[in-house]
Amino acid sequence: MPEVQVYPTAEAASSHLAKLLEDRLRAGGRAVLAGGHTPLAAYRILSQADLLWERLQLLPSDERCLPPDHPERNDRALREALGHHPYTLYSFPAERGPEAAAEATQALVAELLPFDVVLLGLGEDGHTASLFPQLPGIDSEALVVPVHQAPKPPPERVSLGRRALEATELVIFMVTGSEKQTALRKLLAGEDIPAARIQAPQVLILTDRAALPKE
Ligand code: 6PG
Repeated sequence: MPEVQVYPTAEAASSHLAKLLEDRLRAGGRAVLAGGHTPLAAYRILSQADLLWERLQLLPSDERCLPPDHPERNDRALREALGHHPYTLYSFPAERGPEAAAEATQALVAELLPFDVVLLGLGEDGHTASLFPQLPGIDSEALVVPVHQAPKPPPERVSLGRRALEATELVIFMVTGSEKQTALRKLLAGEDIPAARIQAPQVLILTDRAALPKE
């Protein structure tokens, strides 16, 4: 059963998320970090932390199939938010397209397992990483899956699969904003959305009041 922590604002949730990541990764480790906009404020706070950065190995939860320097790339947004510390940020070669990028990173991901923490976002339709409802990725046993016709642009992506996202003791979902109310209600109710399929010994949902479903 996921633990839910509700904060008054997205800013409060972000500073708590940054503290959680700092505590979990202080001595370094291997972490999956969510793409999208929600966690960026927490990453910026985390960039000020005193971590053993050189012992940190980071991987985005998924990547958009865009050129490496495109502003909408998750790895670029992560690097900008975390700042210039000596961590290792692995990138999916998503510019090569979904299948080539997935093929090229299976072995790397296998070596990185298990993760010390997996941080995920939640899409309004219940997707997480690039595992979308009505698309095959969530049902794949592959560690890395190609994604086509994603409803959230761009349509072509590459994503960690469920098996990789579950290879950790702790999965954190960071969900804020009123636009996420429906998806969060479904996640809390365990409805059949991709985000609810991600299981781990500890699942923590950090949210703000705006995203909480209204009774
Ligand atoms: C992506 C993300 C995706 C994201 C959710 C929430 O590449 O878009 O990996 O899974 O986490 O769509 O996005 P926001 O945080 O921007 O609402």
